[in-house]
Amino acid sequence: MSVAHQIDPVDELSPNDLAAFWLPFTPNRAFKKRPRMIARAKDLHYFTPDGRAVLDATAGLWCCNAGHARKPIVEAIQKQAAELDYAPSFQFAHPKAFKLSNRLAMMAPADLDHVFFANSGSEAVDSALKIALAYWNVKGKGSKTRLIGRERGYHGVGFGGISVGGIVNNRKFFGGLLTGVDHLPHTYNRAEQAFSRGEPEWGGHLADELERIVALHDASTIAAVIVEPMAGSTGVLPPPKGYLKRLREICDKHDILLVFDEVITAFGRLGFGTAAERYGVVPDMITFAKGVTSGTVPMGGVIVRKHIYDAFMNGPEHVIELFHGYTYSAHPIAVAAGLATLDLYRDEGLFERARAMEGEWADAAMSLKGRRNVADIRTIGLVAAIDLDPRPGSPGARAYDAMDRAFHDHDVMIRITGDTIALSPPLTIGTAEIGSLFDRLGKLLDGLD
Ligand SMILES: Cc1ncc(COP(=O)(O)O)c(C=O)c1O
Repeated sequence: MSVAHQIDPVDELSPNDLAAFWLPFTPNRAFKKRPRMIARAKDLHYFTPDGRAVLDATAGLWCCNAGHARKPIVEAIQKQAAELDYAPSFQFAHPKAFKLSNRLAMMAPADLDHVFFANSGSEAVDSALKIALAYWNVKGKGSKTRLIGRERGYHGVGFGGISVGGIVNNRKFFGGLLTGVDHLPHTYNRAEQAFSRGEPEWGGHLADELERIVALHDASTIAAVIVEPMAGSTGVLPPPKGYLKRLREICDKHDILLVFDEVITAFGRLGFGTAAERYGVVPDMITFAKGVTSGTVPMGGVIVRKHIYDAFMNGPEHVIELFHGYTYSAHPIAVAAGLATLDLYRDEGLFERARAMEGEWADAAMSLKGRRNVADIRTIGLVAAIDLDPRPGSPGARAYDAMDRAFHDHDVMIRITGDTIALSPPLTIGTAEIGSLFDRLGKLLDGLD
């Protein structure tokens, strides 16, 4: 290797060489052979570098609920970057962090009224699990250390999140994970639930499996149960009727904390500020991320009930109550984006709008029933999943093809997990775009072998 090469290797590379970027959750070699590149976004559309408009049927990764590049959010971010670029939240704070906390506390039901900030859903989940463990410690019940998740659950990619999560590929490569974890069964049964709109009639009884887990381990060893109210990343599994209420009852009975991971379901995705509100069930903690800034700036966090916060407010006042936090907890630019986003959701009534569109959305999605390779369709809020029959011997290949062709040939961004297509458009989607989306998907499915 020449000396000149060592001094300035960048000169040797094309600035757009695809080699260096290791894309997350992506088959890198396939992507780099046929990249799906996005250069710009506005409202319901992405734009490719050559200017082609691609309908965003996934709100990015379930996060851009207000649509893209919305002016009030963009301006708030720009203004904040110039006014206060960064301030620590350890021992100091900036005023807007309190304002956003209060706004989130107002949005959350009942006495979920204290907010701990992180920067992603994964950090939000790990924060919630740590708060649960520390809570029982400060309450003098340090034997309550077990965490209960659910099969097919997704709680991000931290070690805590993958331990309570239940997606096999996200776990099996990463060693022993947290100890003392157990899992509820997932709630999907195609024979009983196929083509359900909203909450399936069948499956509420599966919450009783928590009684079996409690009987096995004893409640004195269990700190918390964590579930997504609607399991999103595994391929959209809406909660069966009565399931979440029953989980709450069993947790109450045995003095176990209940955490709703609302990283996807909060901020209007199911037509309400939170799924907790939609289902009339009050968990002890709610994790959030994504929609809080409509995906513009990374932010996540945990909203906790009063009794949890209060339990920590003991001991000498100069001593830190919870030894946990992130350099970027309540980052000023994320906070400013969050405040502008919540204003926009309120001013445009986007949660109510999602609720009003739910029936129309479900009708349009269900119109794909009977198309080639469609094995099941599920809808809830502004979410839909389409299960495709896998190609024999090549699971996931059919859906991968669907996603690739949707982008290149039908100008639509869709998301896939296994052989399931998942749709979750910005909440601003209207009748015309819904029609156009399912029309394009119908053509896509017709042409897919
Ligand atoms: C329910 C749930 N929890 C946690 C996460 C992880 O969020 P992040 O990717 O921001 O770490 C996700 C992401 O999709 C999620 O759906």
